[in-house]
Amino acid sequence: MPEASANIGVVGLAVMGSNLARNLASREGNTVAVFNRSRSKTDELVAAHPEAEFVPAFSYEEFAASLQKPRTAIIMVKAGAGTDAVIDALTGVFEPGDIIVDGGNALFTDTIRREKAVRATGINFVGAGISGGEEGALTGPSIMPGGSDESWVTLGPILRSIAAVAEGEPCVTHVGHDGAGHFVKMVHNGIEYADMQLIAEAYDLIRRGTSKTPAEIADVFAEWNRGELESYLIEITAEVLRQTDAATGLPLVDVILDQAGAKGTGAWTVQTALNLGVPVSGIAEAVFARSLSSHPEQRAVSRDLPGAEEDLEVEDADAFIEDVRLALYASKIVAYSQGFDEIRAGAAAYDWTIDLGAIAKIWRGGCIIRAQFLNRISDAYQTTPDLPVLLTAPYFVDALTRAQGAWRRIVATAAASGIPAPAFSSSLAYYDGLRAERLPAALIQGQRDFFGAHTYQRTDKPRTFHTQWSGDRTEVEAEDTH
Ligand SMILES: NC(=O)c1ccc[n+]([C@@H]2O[C@H](COP(=O)([O-])OP(=O)(O)OC[C@H]3O[C@@H](n4cnc5c(N)ncnc54)[C@H](OP(=O)(O)O)[C@@H]3O)[C@@H](O)[C@H]2O)c1
Repeated sequence: MPEASANIGVVGLAVMGSNLARNLASREGNTVAVFNRSRSKTDELVAAHPEAEFVPAFSYEEFAASLQKPRTAIIMVKAGAGTDAVIDALTGVFEPGDIIVDGGNALFTDTIRREKAVRATGINFVGAGISGGEEGALTGPSIMPGGSDESWVTLGPILRSIAAVAEGEPCVTHVGHDGAGHFVKMVHNGIEYADMQLIAEAYDLIRRGTSKTPAEIADVFAEWNRGELESYLIEITAEVLRQTDAATGLPLVDVILDQAGAKGTGAWTVQTALNLGVPVSGIAEAVFARSLSSHPEQRAVSRDLPGAEEDLEVEDADAFIEDVRLALYASKIVAYSQGFDEIRAGAAAYDWTIDLGAIAKIWRGGCIIRAQFLNRISDAYQTTPDLPVLLTAPYFVDALTRAQGAWRRIVATAAASGIPAPAFSSSLAYYDGLRAERLPAALIQGQRDFFGAHTYQRTDKPRTFHTQWSGDRTEVEAEDTH
């Protein structure tokens, strides 16, 4: 058996695990043990990166023996059954006080279940969301760990050493207990879906409304990236739009099949929001928009359906583009507000203490939604930690005030000219729903009471009532059957 020379280990050496192991090894004071189910990946990694001085292991027993106590191992394997298999194997060779970290994209309820089961053995289990893709894993991801306070004592310095740094601060914080880290990572991905969809809608409107080529629209995005929209996603949008296809000479975006894929974390965000009763409509529209795009057979048979009477005709391209920019910014504020709302609701439901301002801060670097704008969110929660709706913070009120006319013009223009803008439209509808003094929910309550005696409350007195619809239609006091 090898001697215990490593302070951290990585199990699973596909693209994410090998990059994370290299990142760990590059930081002062770390010696990294590595293990993969099939030996070839371990051999390849160790041979390709002698500078990392990895400690390779070829069985779980060897892996455990090569780690100093408390043993700390990060699992980076295919989420699901693979994660369970590795946890089973590690709990067989680890001891109470050791720490198992799952850095994969696990569903937070799985993490809650695993944490409970592993805790019973005396071993600590930490579900940690890791964002930033393969490059982030290598150079510095944004890390969202859950788990116990005890494990954070050992894990904190290690994760701080490998995380991205934004404005001098490492992009990692102890999010909360058990599944809190994976919950926050899930919502991060949901926001990412919304942000990408909004950018795609902005591109589509400019492409259809002006004579600009993708390369010229790339310039628009590059310009936007110098202002309040500055973010990684805007930056890479410009890169993608500027790319020419080598085979055809066409803009690459024109030869890519228009059917968006998804790995499921957006759907989890929406399913969870539905369970929690949180209206994340912008995120949901983004998930559904990808889903619609991926039904070519339905799109083919629908192509000749009637549409708008007139195509989009823009007289002043610059003014139109500025309207699109403002509509994008306002809709983006809504998407983030909804995402943070879901985190707050999740924290309440699962008894986590989550500092929303700290979450905004750790998303400023390393992750896909990294953006300047997150500083404003962090400021908003620092000023008012229990802010009920993020978009009511003064900075966002100001931005939404500036965007009002443009946002409404763009949504109306899209509808009038038959251009789908589901995320723009639903964000505006959410916004107007929130600020409405009276909602037609009153009518819905009346309907529910009519067909199901579901009862209602009145605006002018307390208690609960039912109208005897099938009788003489008088109102009686009733038990609340909401
Ligand atoms: N790719 C990304 O951008 C990204 C970003 C964030 C998070 N993640 C998450 O990070 C994790 C790793 O992602 P990845 O793309 O590097 O790899 P992956 O393709 O998701 O998984 C491949 C790895 O899992 C191992 N594995 C699968 N089943 C196993 C089992 N039953 N027992 C032991 N090992 C098993 C494989 O071992 P073998 O070599 O033996 O097959 C291989 O090392 C995933 O949870 C993923 O969702 C990925």
